[in-house]
Amino acid sequence: MSPLTRRQLLALGAAGAGATVVGGTGLWWTTTGGPGYTGGKNLIEPQVLASRDRVLELDLTAAPTRIEVGGREASVQAFNGSLPGPTLRVAPGDTIRVAMTNGLEAPTNLHVHGLHVSPEGNGDNPFVSIAPGESFDYEFVLPADHPPGTYWYHPHRHGHVADQVAAGLYGAIIVEDPEPVPVTRERVMVVSDLTLDASGNLAEADRMQQMMGREGEVVLVNGQVRPQLTAAPGERERWRIVNACPSRYLRLQLDGQQVRLLSRDLGRLPVPEEITEAVIAPGNRIELLVDTAEGSSALVAAPVNRGGMDAMMGEGMMGGTMMGDNEPGNDGPIELLALEVSGDPVETPAPVPEGPALRDLREEPITARHTLDFAMGMAGGMGGDGAMMGGEEDTTMMAFTINGQEFDPDRVDTLVAAGTVEEWTLVNSSPMDHPVHLHVWPMQVVQDGDRDVPEPRWQDVVNVPAFGEVKVLIAFEDFPGKTVYHCHILDHEDQGMMGTVEAR
Ligand code: C2O
Ligand code: CU
Ligand code: CU
Repeated sequence: MSPLTRRQLLALGAAGAGATVVGGTGLWWTTTGGPGYTGGKNLIEPQVLASRDRVLELDLTAAPTRIEVGGREASVQAFNGSLPGPTLRVAPGDTIRVAMTNGLEAPTNLHVHGLHVSPEGNGDNPFVSIAPGESFDYEFVLPADHPPGTYWYHPHRHGHVADQVAAGLYGAIIVEDPEPVPVTRERVMVVSDLTLDASGNLAEADRMQQMMGREGEVVLVNGQVRPQLTAAPGERERWRIVNACPSRYLRLQLDGQQVRLLSRDLGRLPVPEEITEAVIAPGNRIELLVDTAEGSSALVAAPVNRGGMDAMMGEGMMGGTMMGDNEPGNDGPIELLALEVSGDPVETPAPVPEGPALRDLREEPITARHTLDFAMGMAGGMGGDGAMMGGEEDTTMMAFTINGQEFDPDRVDTLVAAGTVEEWTLVNSSPMDHPVHLHVWPMQVVQDGDRDVPEPRWQDVVNVPAFGEVKVLIAFEDFPGKTVYHCHILDHEDQGMMGTVEAR
């Protein structure tokens, strides 16, 4: 594999331009509200399935489903016929048993994103493949000290992940707090995006969209277009927000309300942090505390520049940017939902008590260091004359690699000693951001570019900016076994940007 040359990039730019014309709408990338969709209904939350006597047992079927999305008939894929699938609600120490059935035409499997559970056997095993028509019984045993928070589930069968998540296969998992957080109301908001063609079928992503990471033409909250919420002044709501988009980053803003960050991916912050916006990459979750004030507000996803080919080429060549509006994140702000606060003020719940201090792995000995280099380069298929665009279906034009290699489930890329703490340096030598995700063991971000991160900051998806570098500490404890890390732009993962790690 060789790094991209200037000329090859020009050829890629030509591909983008071509796709714009082919798209026929003049907007090759994404639009905001989406053509022909209607919104404005009350927010509906997925059905909640809660554990009883420390066990949650359920059947989960992934299958094609015909439902209504934003006033349009849509053929999607969903768990148990609902978009999103049911919300699973458990406590630390509980066991989740899922009888999973594949009603799709492609192989699939199930991943419980962010849960600290065993990756082996019928646990959170990303190497399982369930053939069409087959079933598989999963069992996830949460340790008694599992961090509370908002997690989620989605298929993880390599090569099909982006298609299946984009089609509608995702759902939330809630791990309850040991000490309740006083709020008047809790809401789950699973954010996703999709693109429908004129007959309501899911549009297929073309090569260019797969390379950039597909972004759907319409952004949904719990499968709805711009739903609305009502509340009285003085309430304190807890919003559990999941970014289930295959590639889209969300810069979330809620003007006119007091917003505090309670949780980022896992656990909770000891003291909720007042914020004006939060950027979440695909796979990330946040929990917000919203202290309501009278008025109309909107939860907005403002644009995020997650890089692209322009970043590599520099602007201004050929009298403008190469990709122009085709760069991801260049659409305008998107209104995700409307919040109407009116009526008689209610009594505000008690102040939120301080949570336990977060563990800081900097106080523990580091036994090994690894560097993972996330790269995009040309892989065959393209002659030295940049003629790759001659054929319309060139599937080998871009390689997505970690340390120069594409995913191979039979290889062990990173071997770690179970029970130890390691420092990993995540390097991005490509012109696009990559949100890096590790299964089973959460990461403590200690250095973000040149900046030390003073507070203990825990996440399970960490954005590594284009040509940037992030250092994380990981405690490989509790579970031995083999699992994966990967870019959570799911198109990149499917194209090979995934590696294996084994704790032994
Ligand atoms: Cu959310 Cu490996 O995935
Ligand atoms: Cu995951
Ligand atoms: Cu990526």
